[in-house]
Amino acid sequence: MNNLDQLACEFDVILKKYLPSKKSPEIIYESVFYSLFAGGKRIRPILLLQSCSLACGDLNFAQPLAAAIEMIHTYSLIHDDLPCMDNDDYRRGKLTNHKMFSYPVAVLAGDALLNMAYETIMNGYFGVKDKDSYMKAAFIIAKAAGIDGMIAGQTADITLEGAEPDKKAVDFIHKHKTSALIEASIHAGMLSGKLDDEQQLHLLEYASCIGMMFQIVDDILDVVGDEGVMGKDTGKDDNKMSYPRAYGLDESYAKVEYLKNKSIESLKIFGSKADFFKNLTLFLSERNK
Ligand code: IPE
Ligand code: IPE
Ligand code: MG
Ligand code: MG
Ligand code: MG
Repeated sequence: MNNLDQLACEFDVILKKYLPSKKSPEIIYESVFYSLFAGGKRIRPILLLQSCSLACGDLNFAQPLAAAIEMIHTYSLIHDDLPCMDNDDYRRGKLTNHKMFSYPVAVLAGDALLNMAYETIMNGYFGVKDKDSYMKAAFIIAKAAGIDGMIAGQTADITLEGAEPDKKAVDFIHKHKTSALIEASIHAGMLSGKLDDEQQLHLLEYASCIGMMFQIVDDILDVVGDEGVMGKDTGKDDNKMSYPRAYGLDESYAKVEYLKNKSIESLKIFGSKADFFKNLTLFLSERNK
């Protein structure tokens, strides 16, 4: 998608505004910055900012939340890669955080990023006019990242490793470990502005389609993807409750196609104003990294 790189660059400028200028403890700052600027696609903050834009929302509302959501996402990847979780050596084309630094530093860098996210969210509160909606958006993000959201998904992901493939289980895992945060990004962004109830429902429907689609594509890429392009190891999910294992590769592709069409359908109400989201769906359904 041609303007995604541009949007990622613009987001990096925003992110830097919210990062502490202090540099101590040095090793943790280094480790935090290493992973934050390792070349992520910035899908979640971009979604949050675009959702704000669709709702003609307040940028002072959306920007700290966008920065925070990328901090949460980056922490989740650092911890996801640890030897006690997925035990991965490469992420975003670079050594994983614990390989570059050390296991304890990676744990602390993840902890620091998660806390930094909430510091950023709370600090952002003072610059926002609609404080009630901001608190609601903050709560939606916290809930999605927390024990009933991403943590629940990650827990099922690791505890069901090696178990018999199970469609219900994989749907639960993907909804929670990945879709929850993607949905929260769009939901939080939309609350920064004014969409009517029907528009909100449609955008949330879009969010749940692309959230699930995102992880199914990630699982497909683990089977058919190119490590060099993806910047992370493939063939890691052979024992995992992955979509191709539970549904087969053909049905996984079919589900991506179904969710792609359903997500685009749910945007109709917005007309050409939602072109960004439509193009993003097409990009995400065909992505190779
Ligand atoms: C990777 O997310 C983890 C999953 C939820 C599949 P991304 O594919 O968005 O990772 P980056 O941020 O672009 O590296
Ligand atoms: C990770 O899912 C989801 C997170 C919450 C971090 P994966 O374990 O499949 O993500 P990758 O393949 O390591 O990026
Ligand atoms: Mg994992
Ligand atoms: Mg992983
Ligand atoms: Mg994966």
